[in-house]
Amino acid sequence: MSALAYGLDGRVFVITGGSRGIGFEIAKMLLSQNAKVAVCGRKKEGLESAQEALKGGNNLLAIQAHVAKEDDVENLFNKTMEYFGKVDGLINNVGMNLITSATDADYSLWQKIIESNLNGTFLCSKRAGQIMRNQKRGKIVSISSIAGRRSAPAMGIYGIAKAGIEMMTKVLAQELAPFNIQVNSVAPCMVRTKFSEPFWSNKEIYDQIVRTIPMGRIAEPDDVAHPVMFLCSDASNFITGQTIMVDGGASAI
Ligand SMILES: NC(=O)c1ccc[n+]([C@@H]2O[C@H](COP(=O)([O-])OP(=O)(O)OC[C@H]3O[C@@H](n4cnc5c(N)ncnc54)[C@H](OP(=O)(O)O)[C@@H]3O)[C@@H](O)[C@H]2O)c1
Repeated sequence: MSALAYGLDGRVFVITGGSRGIGFEIAKMLLSQNAKVAVCGRKKEGLESAQEALKGGNNLLAIQAHVAKEDDVENLFNKTMEYFGKVDGLINNVGMNLITSATDADYSLWQKIIESNLNGTFLCSKRAGQIMRNQKRGKIVSISSIAGRRSAPAMGIYGIAKAGIEMMTKVLAQELAPFNIQVNSVAPCMVRTKFSEPFWSNKEIYDQIVRTIPMGRIAEPDDVAHPVMFLCSDASNFITGQTIMVDGGASAI
């Protein structure tokens, strides 16, 4: 489905983890709306190939940053402000999982998963919230997961982090509402990206997963990017503190 008109002309968005997967799709859709976009990722090569594929010209900035490193986050927002002069929206897209049961996980494994998913979302939201507060407008959208609502084998710590993101969404929504800033999340089921490839590329596992999704398929990255566009647009100005499930009905059963 091609992008609808979301009225995002000239708006500036920071997307964490925009070099592939869902973040890349969101960057592509925002650029197609004539928005200006700063993407970040840890690896230079990933950012360079995304920059080439996105063809965003002067509307696109790619910055190397680890979202759980305070200095990197500071640099990401400083560079975006220097280049574009404002930040209208932040998409907290970075997330990762390491297959482990919570009971047997080393503390270092716990820290890695919490760091990328939860600490990164905190640091970026905090910085964006401060900038947006001065601007008296803004949108923060985080990518949660159905795993934040429903425990699943080997995804326990990831689920705990995503549940934290949903609570952070409510806390920040309440704190930032007086400044005309809306904070929301989207929570997808499995999406066809590199992150989940070991699952969807295995037919037996894929069939097993799809049996739990009434729509009879997993999500594509644009299934997630469209609701994100809505939450970035003025059409959602009275919606805040919410998580939209993007799961083909999985959480309805
Ligand atoms: N795919 C799914 O099935 C699924 C389902 C539900 C929710 N989600 C959520 O959707 C979001 C995006 O997932 P995805 O499937 O698109 O993942 P992905 O394909 O693995 O892409 C992750 C992106 O984030 C970047 N990244 C990873 N760690 C980073 C860090 N610490 N700092 C900065 N950038 C970082 C990666 O680039 P570098 O490697 O270069 O850093 C890449 O651009 C995540 O929050 C994930 O939890 C995914």
